[in-house]
Amino acid sequence: MNKKALEDLNVKGKKVLVRVDFNVPIIDGVITDDNRIVQALPTIKYLIDEEAKVILFSHLGRIKKEEDLAKNSLDVVAKRLEELLGQKVNFVPYTRGIELENAINEMKNSEVVMFQNTRYEDLDGKKESKNDPELGKYWASLGDMFVNDAFGTAHRSHASNVGIASNLESAAGYLMEKELKYIGDTVANPQKPFVAILGGAKVSDKIGVIENLLKKADKILIGGGMAYTFMKALGYNIGTSICEEDKLDLANSILENANGKIVLPVDVVVTKEFKEDAEYRVATYKNLKEDEMGLDIGPKTIKLFKKELKGAKTVVWNGPMGVFEFTNFAKGTEAICEALANMKDARTIIGGGDSAAAAIQMGYREKFTHISTGGGASLEFLEGKELPGVVSLDDALECDCGEDCDHDHDH
Ligand code: 3PG
Repeated sequence: MNKKALEDLNVKGKKVLVRVDFNVPIIDGVITDDNRIVQALPTIKYLIDEEAKVILFSHLGRIKKEEDLAKNSLDVVAKRLEELLGQKVNFVPYTRGIELENAINEMKNSEVVMFQNTRYEDLDGKKESKNDPELGKYWASLGDMFVNDAFGTAHRSHASNVGIASNLESAAGYLMEKELKYIGDTVANPQKPFVAILGGAKVSDKIGVIENLLKKADKILIGGGMAYTFMKALGYNIGTSICEEDKLDLANSILENANGKIVLPVDVVVTKEFKEDAEYRVATYKNLKEDEMGLDIGPKTIKLFKKELKGAKTVVWNGPMGVFEFTNFAKGTEAICEALANMKDARTIIGGGDSAAAAIQMGYREKFTHISTGGGASLEFLEGKELPGVVSLDDALECDCGEDCDHDHDH
């Protein structure tokens, strides 16, 4: 990582502003997946142990109108963090003003304050999301230094990441560092063979990722809804399966330029209705009927994909193999997840989003080398794009320890 690290900051007794991505799913006031909070704990605990004053903030959801405010309050997240930390988190329900400033100024070393959803500032002129310079400056004025641990938001150029970083000494937190290492370095310099598994509904969401990974990977296994656009482009009947008609030419040209690296499903689980308990059967592409849609990869495809994974040293997975929310169509995603979880000699990385949720839901959180906390951010990173939230951080300190140094150590 060529950015300043947490240990490069002198945090003792200092007010350290920490941008986290606590944009977690909440249903009826209950957090259904706390992975993003759990993954931010090492940075928060380090700062507490080093006797910093820890000021946390995050966005949650999107704020367009008055009614969005209450349902996107971070109070429930602050409570969960308090449980995980085993320490008081002083939640301040404002994004600016005297109460917030007093709460920060009264902090003692190792205490934690968390303030309200940064996107509350979007209600009046999108100040957070448009990186309003005054807002970035104001938030920066609340602290002595800035740590960005919000990888999930790093593809955004907002006041709470880029805005603050341009006004204060800044560094990457441990989670940010870990994400950059596993997703960035692994894809840039993969140990071979390198196999990528891509799924999800749309080809259009993954074009950049496919194009970038074709340069690096030995094989790309494609499942999920996006496979049907490729199959149709090849001339198969896909019935009523999801398809992006306007991407058929693109799918063809990707296949032509893939040098045989792309592996498509050979069978699928089909149904006539898109619903949980719909009747289903396994079909090959050659015998799929006009009124049937594919909602999962079939057993032969699972076998084929497992064969392709054999011996791989690096595996990156992004996107489910089917509609895994419906039990009858989750087998493909489960089988791939299980296969990856049991690959002892490979670096296995889940590039965020639904596949990360699926792996965690299936109890495999500890079984992967890394499960990214990013959704859009991981995709953009896998496309090889620079992330503004990272670019805006201070560069790493110069190293004078010799030619062989990889700069990945303390100075
Ligand atoms: C995410 O969930 O991908 C990040 O938290 C970013 O959220 P956003 O798409 O609302 O900016």
